[in-house]
Amino acid sequence: MKRTHTCGALTAINANETVTVTGWVNSRRDLGGLIFIDLRDREGLTQLVINPEGSPAAAEAARPVREEWVVTATGVVNARPPDMINEKISTGEIEVGVTTFDVENRSNSMPYNFDDPQTNEDIRLKYRYLEMRRSDVGANLRLRHRTAKIIRDYFDRNDFIEVETPILSKSTPEGARDYLVPSRVFPGQFYALPQAPQQYKQILMIGGIERYFQIAHCFRDEDLRADRQPEFSQIDVEMSFVSEEDIYQTIEGMLAAVMRETKGIDIQTPFPRMDYRTAMDTYGSDKPDTRFDMQLVDLCHVARTCDFKVFRTAVDDGGVVKAITAKGLAAGASRKKVDEWTEVVKLFKAKGLATIKIEDNGERKSSIAKFFTDEQLDSIVETCGAEPGDIVLIVADKQPVVWNALGRLRLEIATAAGLIPEDQYNFLWVHDFPVFDYDEEEDQYHAMHHPFTSPVAADVERLEAEPAAVRARAYDVVLNGVEIGGGSIRIHNSELQARMFKVLGIDSEEAQLRFGHLLEALSLGAPPHGGIALGFDRIVMLLTGADSIRDVIAFPKTTKASCLMTESPSTVDQPQLDELGIAVTAPAR
Ligand code: AMO
Ligand code: AMP
Repeated sequence: MKRTHTCGALTAINANETVTVTGWVNSRRDLGGLIFIDLRDREGLTQLVINPEGSPAAAEAARPVREEWVVTATGVVNARPPDMINEKISTGEIEVGVTTFDVENRSNSMPYNFDDPQTNEDIRLKYRYLEMRRSDVGANLRLRHRTAKIIRDYFDRNDFIEVETPILSKSTPEGARDYLVPSRVFPGQFYALPQAPQQYKQILMIGGIERYFQIAHCFRDEDLRADRQPEFSQIDVEMSFVSEEDIYQTIEGMLAAVMRETKGIDIQTPFPRMDYRTAMDTYGSDKPDTRFDMQLVDLCHVARTCDFKVFRTAVDDGGVVKAITAKGLAAGASRKKVDEWTEVVKLFKAKGLATIKIEDNGERKSSIAKFFTDEQLDSIVETCGAEPGDIVLIVADKQPVVWNALGRLRLEIATAAGLIPEDQYNFLWVHDFPVFDYDEEEDQYHAMHHPFTSPVAADVERLEAEPAAVRARAYDVVLNGVEIGGGSIRIHNSELQARMFKVLGIDSEEAQLRFGHLLEALSLGAPPHGGIALGFDRIVMLLTGADSIRDVIAFPKTTKASCLMTESPSTVDQPQLDELGIAVTAPAR
């Protein structure tokens, strides 16, 4: 290489050495003849000084340079006087007195201001390579690489084999829409991009691979959010002859290695465990953030006997009344604030939010006080453990509505009040999920995880008669309120798998058409097996402290699944469509 050192390497130890550095002009100042340039490469910044008296040719070459020009400079390392040392950068003890200066490439002026927080996100995505060069994106990609390496080494040490599975594959029901790829050879037929390698990894177990992992690219056409991209990577794992405990241990070991080797943090294993029902009842979420309390408590015993019709009817109709207590927040709970909180619960279909404020003198102020006797109010306050200065927030409704509404309100309040410790990593296993979700509108059961998940043995006999009561051998791993992974012990018996499809409303003909290959493989000596997949992007996001997985993906897409840099998706030529036998009926917008 042209350079002898990176822009992050030079210290006082290198004083008087002749060095060559290469990179981009971060900034340039002309001070009474002397030209100062901060030169940047991916390792850091180095200050160059060019003196027109000593090096006239270098000064002439350096005079016109602007931001982001690409240059090479050779010169002598000079230790800076103590009062000129810049503690903020690794090379702050030195500067390079340039003798030779070459412009490798000019740059047009920058299309936007990098440092302005108002700069629109869309323009940053369009110029992704500039962000990569100038902001945290480059460092995030490096951490991503390191994390992948740690993960690969971990699985290698533990006798796993990384196997690549096809991208042009067949639809797998993971709950999102498929991205389809038309076949030219078979007009009218399509491949589906994998939502996950689920069926392939199960078939790898049937193929005797025993321990598989892959950092696998997955594609899902679904509503996008900060922690969801249409294409993302999973740390995908499958193992034969295992129980839940083996999966837990394997993944805890992997996450411990990642935390130790990237952040120097020793995390406690085994992780705490919580069954789904407890998670919903106490946190209103199947991915509880356990870094703070503010737990949901049940008030049905009071609701059952009170005069407040809303509460009474909720309980009489099989619903629940639950509350959270915001400690010390009574004083800050203005009318406006309570209205804001009410809007939050309404987003989750709750009809209202009742409040009880405990004033500093112990007096209780409540929108619903008149419906309750003093004893009933005492009972609520006592059940909630509310003290002077606290405010109790109550929702009455059907159980899932109350869970979701209070679960979300809990997070909103804690975030706004700064109650969540940022330097804590709370890992948690959530297990014993129900096998099925019931969809009222469609009057149909859906697989909560996916249809290959094994029911708990004791519940199998109730599969057809009482689907809602059947528990799954499924588990999620949660970190600080984010679902970072999920998996299950699988069905390894073709009859049980066929029964499962039937409950899901997939008749045997359709099951044969869509999953015939898997059903047959299951009948040809399938070992018991199970696995998990972790969201690789989400894990790297949490390690970097970024707010969005976009920050840890080199070329992310927008929430509308478009790439602003390459302008994809895009239209294609008519001959390409003709060859595929495709007629586009919706006009391009
Ligand atoms: P699941 O659908 O739960 O399980 O996905 C596993 C993990 O992948 C991450 N994830 C995503 N990350 C970014 N963008 C997305 N759109 C996205 N969707 C999911 C999450 C999630 O926990 N085949 C099963 C796993 C198994 O049973 O072994 C599966 O894919 O962190
Ligand atoms: P209203 O009778 O509609 O004036 O409501 C009286 C109080 O009860 C208000 O504070 C409402 O926000 C609250 N409230 C109404 N419906 C519910 C509900 N489903 N759960 C909790 N509080 C409610």
